[in-house]
Amino acid sequence: MFTHNPFAELALVVPSISIKFFVIIMMSLVILSTALDMIHKKNVIYFFRNAKKAKKSAKKELSTVKKTAVVLKTVAHDIATTSELGMGKRRLAHVLGMYGTILFWVASVALIFKYTDGSTAPSYLTIIWHVGAILTCLGGYWFWFFLRVDVSAEANPWYRIITADLFVLALLACSTFGLAWSYAQFNDIVGLSYLFLILFIISNLVLFGGVYWSKFAHMFYKPGAAIQKNLAEADGSRDNLPPPADAPERFGLGIKREQPKHY
Ligand code: HEM
Repeated sequence: MFTHNPFAELALVVPSISIKFFVIIMMSLVILSTALDMIHKKNVIYFFRNAKKAKKSAKKELSTVKKTAVVLKTVAHDIATTSELGMGKRRLAHVLGMYGTILFWVASVALIFKYTDGSTAPSYLTIIWHVGAILTCLGGYWFWFFLRVDVSAEANPWYRIITADLFVLALLACSTFGLAWSYAQFNDIVGLSYLFLILFIISNLVLFGGVYWSKFAHMFYKPGAAIQKNLAEADGSRDNLPPPADAPERFGLGIKREQPKHY
């Protein structure tokens, strides 16, 4: 199953151009919805206004080399390892889900655009597609069942669903139904294969069509905010926050003593 390209088999039933068209529509939905979200929330206007204001209180002018170094360090550390989640399960689950999704998307685009016209996809690409989906499921279900704050700290049952769960659930549905579709198709279980294909298509429509209402766009906003924060620290403006106290950072054990489970 891991060396099997489900899109190639799909292209025997529907024209390959329609699969490519579907991907382009999904990408356009992300761009359009994120732009609408930025207009609606005015977050980018706030972001640039704040950055301009902070620049006035900068203690030093950063050279292009220094700025590039700060950006590269932020990409390699804060963004690539989602360092803001600290050390522990939450960060590990996120890293699994994030890289799983990136692998799944990149492999999907390569498989659809290069290998649905009759040529055989290299096995490493189909393996990346399946492994990406599995990693997303591992990170996502771990987060969903055990790590979500409303479940782990507020005692809500795992099956309580709110609008904020749209993103993680749609993401999980895409990976799960994608894997199930590939499995059923590979084993010639025709009825199930079509059922999972339809569910896979619906989950993609929900994931990419729901960007405006879901947390999807955090994958663009978070990196931007991390870069701005680190630049503001490097030039001394600190986002107009007070300077750190001239004393060691000792906060006591308070917040680390026990998990919040007082319900
Ligand atoms: C392909 C890229 C990414 C994917 C698929 C992804 C996926 C997710 C998912 C599924 C959640 C849980 C959402 C929820 O609260 O229901 C989440 C939360 C979060 N993400 Fe991402 N993310 C991505 C990129 C990023 C990046 C680049 C950053 C930071 C630089 C980031 C930072 C966060 C943070 C801080 C949370 C909150 C985590 C928590 O409450 O435990 N994410 N992400």
